[in-house]
Amino acid sequence: MPKRIEGFSKLTQEEKIDWISQTHFKNPTLAAALLHSYWNLDAMLQQRHEEFTENTVSNFYLPLGVAPNFLINEQWYTLPMVIEESSVVAAACKAAKFWMHRGGFQTRVVATEKVGQIHFLYQGDEKKLKDFIQLHQTQLIDSTRHLTKNMRARGGGITALELNDQRSLMPHYFQLHLTFETGDAMGANFINSCLEEIAVHLKNLASQYAVFSTLEKQLEIVMCILSNYVPNCLVTAKVSCPIEALGAQKPWNAHEFAEKLVQAVTIAQEEPFRAVTHNKGIMNGVDALVIATGNDFRAIEAGVHAYAARSGKYKSLSSAWIEEEQFSMELQIPLALGTVGGLTGLHPMVGWCHELLGNPDAKTLMQITAVAGLAQNFAALQSLVTSGIQKGHMKMHLVNILNQAQATKMQKEKALSHFKNRPVSVQAVTAFLDEHKNK
Ligand code: MEV
Repeated sequence: MPKRIEGFSKLTQEEKIDWISQTHFKNPTLAAALLHSYWNLDAMLQQRHEEFTENTVSNFYLPLGVAPNFLINEQWYTLPMVIEESSVVAAACKAAKFWMHRGGFQTRVVATEKVGQIHFLYQGDEKKLKDFIQLHQTQLIDSTRHLTKNMRARGGGITALELNDQRSLMPHYFQLHLTFETGDAMGANFINSCLEEIAVHLKNLASQYAVFSTLEKQLEIVMCILSNYVPNCLVTAKVSCPIEALGAQKPWNAHEFAEKLVQAVTIAQEEPFRAVTHNKGIMNGVDALVIATGNDFRAIEAGVHAYAARSGKYKSLSSAWIEEEQFSMELQIPLALGTVGGLTGLHPMVGWCHELLGNPDAKTLMQITAVAGLAQNFAALQSLVTSGIQKGHMKMHLVNILNQAQATKMQKEKALSHFKNRPVSVQAVTAFLDEHKNK
């Protein structure tokens, strides 16, 4: 069969599965059966999932783990974590337990401002454009009143509109830069709708003015879109305790351990290769929460990494310091999260995760998510500066290696006990399985 097709989207689901299986797989029957085996038996639920996107042919599972014992601002939480990487949930649990005996996590929302932009070209007199925008600023914002009614009733809406001259970046390029408060919604649709409405109004108003009337002076909209860079939608999570309370962490005493943690963070602040991996560890925790709560992890990733590079150099998102015998570690990240709208009311497991967290509002979810990032960062550094990362990682990875080798239940049990105090590697596990093949 040819590997290209016209009108694929118009095929029924069974026809799609049939075409894919026949075209791309050695064993079409097995390929189709696998897709079917991942369907939910509850037809309504299956349909719900299928309708999230297009050309759905099955579901794709990720594990949902939980990490209890998180003490955040004196309140207890069990965190839902959707992640495939072994040891992330275990690390979260370990960090939660460690800090629950040392005062827990303190968090603070610094600001919740979202951003949207209308990018346009204008070839006329800059001063006239400025005056025009200034004169019509309120009118432009008011053109969205029908869209912002509910949001304004909840204390949100458009908070500012400003004209930016961007001609140093591209000829004739200007933008309207708008800021928004979107309450408990992530607000992407709301922001984009407002921007598109304002753009239409801007064009209409402009066409009524002589200054814009000749073609080359006309204002030409390029695009309207929210920005996922939200440096003013910020949250901070912090842990702090007397150095002695950290306890000895083999091979270090408490003081040495605190110093090693500070050195590890300093390296990530100064050295971009390390900073990227350091921040990746933070995002292990953040993404797991973001996915579990039905938020857009691509938006969060893009915004967080842009924030890490805001000084012009990519740096650690966390900081650690020692002051008057007190060790502290802090994470500050932009998190534009929502607890209403989007998947939150549609995906039953997302609803479950929200309930597990006590149905938090967006600000509370920002704080919990930042804690997940800080906990992950602390746990990673704790391992890195003491036993090394592989000890814990490979223990968790052992199960994956065993599954990949299609070990039986009995072989798995034997292997788990054998490798309890031995180093795990693919070779060692393969050799062990060979030895215990028929036992
Ligand atoms: C692995 O997923 C994450 C770590 O590499 C993070 C780090 O190095 O800090 C362990």
